[in-house]
Amino acid sequence: MALGIQLKDVTKKIGGSTIIDQLSLDIHKGEVFGLLGPNGAGKTTTIRMIVGLMAITSGDILIDGISISKERSATAHKLGAIVENPDFYLYMSGLDNLRYFAKLQDKKISRKTIDDVVRVVGLTESIQKKVKTYSLGMKQRLGLAQSLLHRPKVLILDEPTNGLDPAGIREFREYIRRLASEQNMTIIISSHLLSEIELMCDRVAIIQNGRLIRTETIKERPDKENFEKPASQVVIELADSKNAEQLLHQKLPSLETRRSGEQLYIQADKEMTAKVIQLLATESHAIYRVRDGQQTLEDRFLEITNEKGEAYADAHSQ
Ligand SMILES: Nc1ncnc2c1ncn2[C@@H]1O[C@H](COP(=O)(O)OP(=O)(O)O)[C@@H](O)[C@H]1O
Ligand SMILES: [Mg+2]
Repeated sequence: MALGIQLKDVTKKIGGSTIIDQLSLDIHKGEVFGLLGPNGAGKTTTIRMIVGLMAITSGDILIDGISISKERSATAHKLGAIVENPDFYLYMSGLDNLRYFAKLQDKKISRKTIDDVVRVVGLTESIQKKVKTYSLGMKQRLGLAQSLLHRPKVLILDEPTNGLDPAGIREFREYIRRLASEQNMTIIISSHLLSEIELMCDRVAIIQNGRLIRTETIKERPDKENFEKPASQVVIELADSKNAEQLLHQKLPSLETRRSGEQLYIQADKEMTAKVIQLLATESHAIYRVRDGQQTLEDRFLEITNEKGEAYADAHSQ
């Protein structure tokens, strides 16, 4: 798959300390990609380097295959970004603000383009009103409109839903999904909130202390048409887990199992789970309980971001 953004061993040092440590990411075209990490993880620093607001100490970033360190201006016009809360002229209308920003661009931006982005962000009805009458959510969308004016291929949003209410967040999420699917845009969104990233993104990179902890595909986003239902962990509690495991090894040699006390952990989809339970029952195993043992992304995020998680991060970054 074609890459929209590639980070290659990106490192940022400020003073004596390493803020970003050899961060590598491959982000596909048309993908909504989340940068997830607790405060201070290095999300804003990473984004500032991608959009060229901060120099890279070592490594490189490619936008649409073009190196930002070698061809800054060629990459700049492919990018749209909201890095900090955008400032607007409060006593001008939303439309006049956008016209003003459009004039500041190198290339000519037509009235039709302005109307189009206003429609995309859902501000058509209030675009003639003064920005001071806008809600926070509307200002956020005006910021998004501004970043879309020059028709970027890549959109980068740093904690874009900060300060939005739940309804605003929901609306925003829908716009983002629409941009990605209708315009095949590559979108990076940073957040310290897993719940948000999970609902908006196709994949997520968890970062902590400037390091990549892991990248995950979000499989069960509610708006996905047929989200995958892969094998997941199932926990079976039974009287004799040891013999049960032996039986399963014999009859279903490809099944992955693990045992701890009365608990037998298996890696199985629905059909396999049914088969396993039937087999155990046929052999008169007393089954006490069967439950879903899948670790959610949230479990993993919490594990990573608590103290135990730091030990994990250190052990895995060597
Ligand atoms: N200009 C700077 N000088 C020194 N340290 C910085 C600077 N900018 C950020 N940092 C440090 O880098 C780390 C990552 O910060 P940041 O990228 O803002 O994290 P996030 O956006 O994930 O909350 C933090 O520990 C922060 O204190
Ligand atoms: Mg930040």
